Amino acid sequence: MSGNIVWEDIATIGKNLSSEEAHKLEGKTVLISGGSGFLGKYLVGALCYLNDTTLKKPCRIISVDNFITGQPHPDFNFKGRNDVLEVWGDVSYPLPVREDIHYIIHAAGLASPVYYKKYPLETIESAVTGVKNLLELARKNKNLEGFFFFSSSEIYGDPDPKAVPTPETYHGYVSSVGPRACYDESKRLAETIVSIYHQQYGIPTKTVRPFNVFGPGMGHADRRVLPMFAYKVLNKQPIPVHGHGRQTRTFCYITDAATGFLKVLLSGKPGEVYNIGNEDNEISMKDLAELFVKIEGSGATYTLIPYPANYPAGEPERRCPDITKARSDVKFAPQVSLQQGLARFIDWCRTDSRYTEGAVQD
Ligand SMILES: NC(=O)c1ccc[n+]([C@@H]2O[C@H](COP(=O)([O-])OP(=O)(O)OC[C@H]3O[C@@H](n4cnc5c(N)ncnc54)[C@H](O)[C@@H]3O)[C@@H](O)[C@H]2O)c1
Repeated sequence: MSGNIVWEDIATIGKNLSSEEAHKLEGKTVLISGGSGFLGKYLVGALCYLNDTTLKKPCRIISVDNFITGQPHPDFNFKGRNDVLEVWGDVSYPLPVREDIHYIIHAAGLASPVYYKKYPLETIESAVTGVKNLLELARKNKNLEGFFFFSSSEIYGDPDPKAVPTPETYHGYVSSVGPRACYDESKRLAETIVSIYHQQYGIPTKTVRPFNVFGPGMGHADRRVLPMFAYKVLNKQPIPVHGHGRQTRTFCYITDAATGFLKVLLSGKPGEVYNIGNEDNEISMKDLAELFVKIEGSGATYTLIPYPANYPAGEPERRCPDITKARSDVKFAPQVSLQQGLARFIDWCRTDSRYTEGAVQD
């Protein structure tokens, strides 16, 4: 049942691509770092779907992960497939790849605030050293057609209210030594490195800045806000809302976001940076907790709590993307409302025993 939700979503992502976009992958080899993370698993799945339904000559997918936070999940089972090679690898070191690669997707990173606070140096290494190692690999591949870097909306820091919704041209308001600096600043430097490799070596780079993507497959212990709220509500514990609860985020459902990522990879302009998110789905954390209570029904509650010690301070008050550029360049058009996406996500969580067995420590 839970696998069905995931594979329906993977099919939606594949179907959302134009035929021209999909066929660019015909017979190509795609290397994905962080392939066992939340976004990586969907990208691997979407490429498998295209192989099964659309491509005459399948693409080959090499998924690399060091499992610092990622975990295999039974709903994303690629074992036994000839088109997927899943290997342990750490992008902080050069990868010993000896075959032609056509697309490189750098999705490895420490994406959850609790984890990047716990592993600050690994966070920097995976972004900065990781991107440089993969760009060097790109340089060795004369037939490379695209290099895709997952940056983050966090590079904008806590934006000036006048710059929200935030366009790609906003330069950010970020502390170089603040509690979130290991993540924000390493993504910023990695973006700089990507742009230099594009300018100096002509690598066809594409960078995206995702704004809070969510969906089935997020780990029960991931600690980002939606899995954390889902975990608490399903374990009959009060949903903890940090601070005053008026801070907002926009949430983009996985089918929309992954479609946007693949469209940028296959149709985006080389050297460009794109926001990917859903500007219609902005909500305060208090309203989000109330939505969970409404969906879960009787017995569900939420409570305002001070920021916990393991959570990095200085979170942005408001985050909302301006996606005009992705709409116009790659025809990105998010379709899933927060309510629709959340209902699907919680349905999936209910079927995953890891969400319901009450094992995560605060
Ligand atoms: N999901 C979002 O909403 C979001 C938002 C902004 C940015 N991003 C970025 O997108 C990328 C993917 O995000 P995600 O949500 O899938 O995160 P995730 O934490 O679920 O997955 C990241 C994966 O990278 C792996 N990894 C970490 N360091 C590594 C290393 N040195 N070598 C190899 N593998 C390593 C982890 O084990 C994990 O499986 C990350 O770089 C993240 O910073 C995601």
